[in-house]
Amino acid sequence: STEELHERAQRAKVLLGDRLYILGHHYQKDEVIVYADASGDSLQLSQIASTQTADYIIFCGVHFMAETADILTTRNQAVILPDVRAGCSMADMANIDQTERAWTELQKYFGDTIVPLTYVNSTAAIKAFVGRNGGATVTSSNAQEMVEWALTQKTRMLFLPDQHLGRNTAVKLGIPLNRMAIWDPIKQNLELQCAIEDVVVILWKGHCSVHMNFLPKHIANLREKEPDRNILVHPECTYEVVSASDFAGSTKYIIDMIEASEVGSKWAIGTEMNLVNRLITTYPDRDIVSLNPFMCPCLTMNRIDLPHLTWALEELVEGRVINQIVVDEKTSLEAKMALEKMM
Ligand code: 13P
Ligand code: SF4
Repeated sequence: STEELHERAQRAKVLLGDRLYILGHHYQKDEVIVYADASGDSLQLSQIASTQTADYIIFCGVHFMAETADILTTRNQAVILPDVRAGCSMADMANIDQTERAWTELQKYFGDTIVPLTYVNSTAAIKAFVGRNGGATVTSSNAQEMVEWALTQKTRMLFLPDQHLGRNTAVKLGIPLNRMAIWDPIKQNLELQCAIEDVVVILWKGHCSVHMNFLPKHIANLREKEPDRNILVHPECTYEVVSASDFAGSTKYIIDMIEASEVGSKWAIGTEMNLVNRLITTYPDRDIVSLNPFMCPCLTMNRIDLPHLTWALEELVEGRVINQIVVDEKTSLEAKMALEKMM
C-alpha cells in the first residue's frame, strides 16, 4: 500500500542520514517531493548539487538534470535517478550527431560569427559541444542575460534545443522576429525570413511537448469569460501564447509571482500540472486554475514515483547503488565550461 511504501521510504532515508541528499524538481509528484531535502527549478537544483557533500544524491527530476548534477559534483559522489526512463522529450530533440552536422553547415553560411547557447534542458554531450565551442548554458531564469552575453561574443548565436525559449527571450531583447532563422535538424536546413547576413539568432527546431499544450485559444476563451484573471505562463510556451499572456517567466518566477500576489487574486497558469496543483493547494486563498483545462503533466517527470524512490533508497541501505548517472570525464570537463559561464 501507499502507506507502507511511505513508511519504508522514511525508514531508509533515516538510516542513510547525512550520506544521502535528495533533490526534487518543482514538477515532481507530491508523493516524491515530500522526501526532497531541497526542491527548486533546474538552476537552483544545479547550484545546490554543486555544494553538496553527501555520498549519494538522489535526483528526483529528469535525466539531463541528473547528468548536470553528476558534472557539478565530485567523482566519489554518486548521482542516482530513481527511474532511468525519466528523460525529456525536448532534450531528445537535439542529439550530438545532428548538432555537429548543423554546426558544419552553419559555418558554411556564417563562418566564425556564431556562438552556441544551450538551454540546460539538453544532454551532457550537447553541453560539452557548446563548452568546447566557446558558448554557455542558459536556463529559463537567466536566458535574457545569457543571450545578451552571447551577443557580446559574436554577431549571432545558435540557440539549442528550445526554439520557444530562444524566440521569446530574443523578442524581449528587441530582436525582430524576422532576424531569427530556424535550423531544422530533421530536414537539415535553415528556414530564413531575412537576408542571410541579417540573421542574428538561429533557433534549433525543438520544443517542450508539455508547454506546447497551452494554446492562444485557451487565452482567448479566458479573456472573454473572465477578463480579470491574470495569465501567467512559462517561456517554453509558444511566442503567440507568451505574447498574449500578462506575465511570462521561469518556474521560479511563476512561484514568486503567486507568493507575492494578493489574496483573492485570480490566475490561470500555463506550466506543468504537478506544479500548478501544488500552487493551488499551497495558496487556497488565491483563485488558481490551469490555463489548459485538461491539465498538462510531464509524463517523464512523473516516472519518478514513490515505488521507484523507495526502491532506490532501500538498495542504498543494502549498499547497492542503482541507476547511477555517470558522465564521462571529457564530456564532463567540456560541459562544465559551459555551465560555469552561466553559474
Ligand atoms: P525550469 O525549472 O528551469 O523553469 O525548467 C522548466 C522545465 O521544463 C524543466 O524541465
Ligand atoms: Fe522536458 Fe518539458 Fe518535461 Fe521539462 S516539462 S522535462 S522540458 S518535456
